[in-house]
Amino acid sequence: MKVLQHIILTLIAVFILGACQQNNNQANSSSIDSRVDALLDEMTLEEKIGQMCQINGAGGTVPEDLKTALKEGRIGSILNEVDVAAINEIQRISVEESRLGVPVIIARDVIHGFKTVFPIPLGQAASWNPEIIQEGCRIAAAEAASSGVRWTFAPMIDISRDARWGRIAESLGEDPHLTSVLGAAMIKGFQGDDLTNPNSVIACAKHFAGYGAAEGGRDYNSTLIPPRELHDIYLPPFKAAVDAGVRTFMSGFNDIDGVPATGNAYLMRDVLRGKWQFDGFVVSDWASAWEMINHGFAADEKEAAQRAINAGVNMEMASTTYVDHIAELLQEGQVSEATINQAVREILRVKFEMGLFENPYITEDNQYQFAKPEYLEAAKEAATQSMVLLKNSENTLPITKDKKIALVGPMAHQAYEQLGTWIFDGDSTLSVTPLMALQQEMGDEQVLFADGMAISRTQHTKGFKKAIEQAKKADVIVFCGGEESILSGEAHSRADIDLPGVQNELIKALKQTGKPLVLVVMAGRPLTIGEISEYADAVIYAWHPGTMGGAALADILLGKANPSGKLPVTFPKVVGQIPMHYNHKNTGRPANPHSWTQMYDIPVKAPQTSLGNESHYIDAGFTPLYPFGYGLSYTSFEYANLQLDKEVYGKDETIKVSFELANIGEMAGDEIAQVYVRDLVGSVSRPVKELKAFKRVSIESGDKTTITLEIAVQDLAFHNIDMAEVVEPGDFQLWVGGDANAELSASFSVQ
Ligand code: BGC
Repeated sequence: MKVLQHIILTLIAVFILGACQQNNNQANSSSIDSRVDALLDEMTLEEKIGQMCQINGAGGTVPEDLKTALKEGRIGSILNEVDVAAINEIQRISVEESRLGVPVIIARDVIHGFKTVFPIPLGQAASWNPEIIQEGCRIAAAEAASSGVRWTFAPMIDISRDARWGRIAESLGEDPHLTSVLGAAMIKGFQGDDLTNPNSVIACAKHFAGYGAAEGGRDYNSTLIPPRELHDIYLPPFKAAVDAGVRTFMSGFNDIDGVPATGNAYLMRDVLRGKWQFDGFVVSDWASAWEMINHGFAADEKEAAQRAINAGVNMEMASTTYVDHIAELLQEGQVSEATINQAVREILRVKFEMGLFENPYITEDNQYQFAKPEYLEAAKEAATQSMVLLKNSENTLPITKDKKIALVGPMAHQAYEQLGTWIFDGDSTLSVTPLMALQQEMGDEQVLFADGMAISRTQHTKGFKKAIEQAKKADVIVFCGGEESILSGEAHSRADIDLPGVQNELIKALKQTGKPLVLVVMAGRPLTIGEISEYADAVIYAWHPGTMGGAALADILLGKANPSGKLPVTFPKVVGQIPMHYNHKNTGRPANPHSWTQMYDIPVKAPQTSLGNESHYIDAGFTPLYPFGYGLSYTSFEYANLQLDKEVYGKDETIKVSFELANIGEMAGDEIAQVYVRDLVGSVSRPVKELKAFKRVSIESGDKTTITLEIAVQDLAFHNIDMAEVVEPGDFQLWVGGDANAELSASFSVQ
């Protein structure tokens, strides 16, 4: 009875608290709205246009022309200024010397850390751990805010199915569900739950939308995304970002079927504001408004401005088509006053929400707070959880400390390169490289170092001799290769994604010593390492692991940590297989292992149809090198006893998926359990499977646990033949396991 009473009282309290909270929020937002309206009423057209203008910072100074522009209220935001004194001066002029005292927002690309660098986003995604990702972004926000940055252009949640595209490094991989969950975690980490907190940084969901589908993986290229795929694959992470409370969006560089994202009213008005009710603001990408001239979508700057503002871009980054033309466009009736007011209203609202009017300055006690021990520890844990063990023959790993290691390769001691792309502020003097960490752990005597190649692109073999000598003296070779950070990221697409330079030759030469060889790859993308992996006894994919990458790697190599990352993207065997993603359609002639003949085994003059007519390559087959979700551990996990709570579900019900997960190996470890679903028949054909739930679980050696994951039936919705988002009744199959090839399966239906 007492218990019941307690529960009822608690429920009432929660209800009252919730109601108060809601009232507070409502009051807060209505008082912000009235402040915005009052301010807007006071503004001249020039001041309004000023709010819509974002310029590049002057690098630690406030030149006279910038001072004048700030005094006249002609700047809404500045990017790439990270000097506290300059920022405080910028704010002082804006707040104290401009007519209406509107502060600017200072923006920066804080993509995977600020001074303390976390793994590249694709690496973080391999942790499948929203908590650790959120914490990393909270730390990045605190460091950035202590430098005056209050707005980051992250997360990048473009679905990326093409490893040639350099910006896959910045993405969270190929899957809409994983990207949605992890992108939302990033937003929560950056923004926190109180935007007025001086350590909170507002987030920006980018690039809206479809940028990751750049044709052929060539950056900035056109994208051809059928409407259904746009809505079912590319847009869900952006919807999740809105649900997570993201305050800004960035429009992309790309055109979708001829309409540049920055001039795309359907995306920014109908979907973002209309359907999703987003009330933050949209910034263009760097000069992407102006680039609509190059696209052939605008004849000149004036038309570019007209297209961008009418399509829903509030603020123009870097180019000046708004400043130069909006007044004229208004006069001519090509842009309405209501459109301008709304654009400015949305910007001002965010500035009020951030508390910038009350606290525009970076206070002395919060300046330049970098690389605290707990930040470095978090970066190490993130790197540890992001590394993926792809191969481990004969338990080559972990290496016992009595062994001598020959540490070779162009990424073994590269404090800068291990940080990866987009590290404007990253401090490579903080980096712990694999060499430093292994020496620290094992003592200098046990680690015989010779890089063999100065950089990943070295094209000569002069360093091989020394490397081979070291290998001969050692018990095991650890080759740290990959690609330097500049080989991935924006504008750095590659058509050939093998290990660059003479790395393959060096690995082969090292293997000739007969010593066990561990290949560690640090890269910004999946590389085609299939053939060269044959020469390796173990393979660890470390991505660009950030500041603490070497320390995390050493822990994994030496068995102090058990690898647990899983691939957030399918690894192709050869580049010609791209695009290759696990959630493809079945086709009318799905690939069939029984009727595939390797090209070299096809007899001469074989009859046309004698060797199978299914969807595959005769040289590369139809399977990837490693499937989505794949990753090994030093222990083994076993899935069993899969059960669903029902056989038939209504559309508003929730599917409870339960299964047992046992650690049947010798070491405690984390497994990332994944649930995939296939809608067997639809009004349009459906993917062969789609990730719908996942969970990272820690299990002691010999232990077993029962896991229950929930999937709302509504999450099975897709855009049907009439482009309505619906769950179609019918039969479904579900799989549970450690990667996209999971076999443990059950069926259910939806009424
Ligand atoms: C990139 C954006 C970035 C912006 C500002 C552009 O080139 O596409 O992602 O936020 O620059 O640096």
